[in-house]
Amino acid sequence: MNLVVALDLPSASENLRLAESLAEFDNLWMKVGFRTYIRDGRAFIDTLKTLNPHFKIFLDLKLYDIPNTMADSAKEIADLGVEMFNIHASSGSKAMERVMQSLEPYAKERPLVLAVTALTSFNDESFRAIYGEGIEERAKEFAKMSYNSGLDGVVCSAFESRAIKDETSKEFLTLSPAIRPFGEASSDQERVATLEIAHREGVDFPVVGRPIYQDENPKQKVKDILERMSKIELT
Ligand code: C5P
Repeated sequence: MNLVVALDLPSASENLRLAESLAEFDNLWMKVGFRTYIRDGRAFIDTLKTLNPHFKIFLDLKLYDIPNTMADSAKEIADLGVEMFNIHASSGSKAMERVMQSLEPYAKERPLVLAVTALTSFNDESFRAIYGEGIEERAKEFAKMSYNSGLDGVVCSAFESRAIKDETSKEFLTLSPAIRPFGEASSDQERVATLEIAHREGVDFPVVGRPIYQDENPKQKVKDILERMSKIELT
């Protein structure tokens, strides 16, 4: 498993202070979201990399547009030097395929591309009103479509990870938010999973936000999480 730290604090300086406090860890992923990227842009990404060139960056922009615009944007994202980004599976197979084609020139240097299947803010009724089908059936179809379009994986709940891998491939990556490493408060998340559950369900990238940045010692918290992860992986 690869720990992804969500940089969700309200300002660039707070996010950078958090990242700086974690600069001694060489195997961390940093999740940069919509708000941060709109406000702080490329300069923020560049600064993160100067804190620790080994930080890997997941740009969580969830692209959704026509295939041509998505493919062009994917190249711009690759040029930022980030290691992973995401797009909406509901943008369709053609858009997803075009995105992957546009990244071919980057070969092994290309960022990983994940698809968002269903936003967790939907309930079954509100999802059905847009997609005409329940979340579970549709999310699985979206995952298969993403796999067949050549994407690297999907964003999903830890509890869907195993079923998605069974339907696609063990190598098809899953990134799961709502991880509460040691059973911390779930806050507004519905189906939270501990590190043990994430591991059991085959999650490749557990995303942790509040349990880290709201802790009084985020550095110690990350250390504890990484230690627990390596222990679980050995058993
Ligand atoms: O603070 P917490 O650990 O709940 O943060 C989870 C992160 O994952 C937040 O950045 C949130 O926006 C993001 N996320 C999510 N559910 C999704 C997709 C992303 O919670 N389906």
